[in-house]
Amino acid sequence: MSKKWNLGVLGLGEGRSIISAAQRSELWTLGNICDLNEELCKERCQEFGFSKYTLSYEEMLQDKDIDVIGIYTPDQLHAKHIKMALEAGKHVICTKPLMVSLDEANELLEVQRRTGKAVFVGQSSRYFEPIKRQREDYDAGKHGELDSIETHYISDARWFLEKNWSHQAGFSWMYNFMIHAVDLAAWYLPDIEDVYGVGVTSENTKAYNLTVPDTMKFILKDKNGRSAAVNGIYALPTLGSAVEQSISCTLRGTKGISRSGYPKLKYYTNFQPIQKTAELHTYDEKHPYYFRFEQESHHAGEYQNYIEYFAQCMNNGATPKPDLTEGIHTLAIMEAMEESMKTGMVTKISEVLKRRNISL
Ligand SMILES: NC(=O)c1ccc[n+]([C@@H]2O[C@H](COP(=O)([O-])OP(=O)(O)OC[C@H]3O[C@@H](n4cnc5c(N)ncnc54)[C@H](O)[C@@H]3O)[C@@H](O)[C@H]2O)c1
Repeated sequence: MSKKWNLGVLGLGEGRSIISAAQRSELWTLGNICDLNEELCKERCQEFGFSKYTLSYEEMLQDKDIDVIGIYTPDQLHAKHIKMALEAGKHVICTKPLMVSLDEANELLEVQRRTGKAVFVGQSSRYFEPIKRQREDYDAGKHGELDSIETHYISDARWFLEKNWSHQAGFSWMYNFMIHAVDLAAWYLPDIEDVYGVGVTSENTKAYNLTVPDTMKFILKDKNGRSAAVNGIYALPTLGSAVEQSISCTLRGTKGISRSGYPKLKYYTNFQPIQKTAELHTYDEKHPYYFRFEQESHHAGEYQNYIEYFAQCMNNGATPKPDLTEGIHTLAIMEAMEESMKTGMVTKISEVLKRRNISL
């Protein structure tokens, strides 16, 4: 019989989505929820008909019934909160970005290997319907030999600069937002070696007294010469997601092409090259499953998909992916992207890992 997994949720902003997912899943029970903000704890208890909360992460970690901690705190705190969970003997589901630099990668690898607990990175985009379907088609060989990829995450996300932690050290558009597009590229090209890119900080970001680049373009090339073009734009007006998906992933192979994206439940394919028009697949009936709260905010459907995948892997003795190793590899790509933006030169992933003394 499958084990039912008991979840503790840390951080109740976006953590709202995993609470909804756990409550609807036959594979999960909700053990406790935790936030420093007591009003928010009470709000979530009321919203989800849940009677328990704590303001202390340490207290939640002491609960022997909890198997897995879901971490949804500000980006800069993830490394610390993952370590605490592992040391307390818990498995971890941590939202993206896994961390905001490679500074703590080796320490985390050591703790994870010593404790033998799972660390799963909640790269939600991989679990959105059109993007899932695209992966299934890729795995079924419908694209043939994959030669070129284009991914982007384009969103006018200036609203995000109202959050206090977006002004604290460690925040960047690249780690918080662009990681979705980078992760998709690395998912299809796991052997990326060369990274080149440019970035600018627009006046719109500078108006918030921030200097992090908000408009970035990269070419990532793997060891076989296949490439991905990855684009990220976060503080300029957009055409809106009806015209251009916020997140997009195009795969071009010898036998066919496909384009998936987010937040529209649309997927385009052309697996018959003589046909000039793409086929459009829509999944509109799944809108209420993916978007459970106001407008198209939060990611409850993606989290439902990934916590169930996590539980199934664990019940079958498999490692849920992306795991810590894969997550750190993606951060190495991002460190190379940052370096290339500064030097104007190509940066090699193997050199980033070598100078950081990281072996994956
Ligand atoms: N697509 C996705 O997967 C997705 C989408 C949105 C946000 N996120 C990620 O979720 C995380 C949270 O984002 P958010 O928008 O909810 O931010 P938020 O600021 O709204 O929420 C963070 C919460 O963490 C709480 N917190 C901070 N330190 C804590 C501590 N030590 N103990 C307990 N609670 C603590 C805060 O009180 C706050 O309520 C970020 O890492 C973000 O990148 C992921």
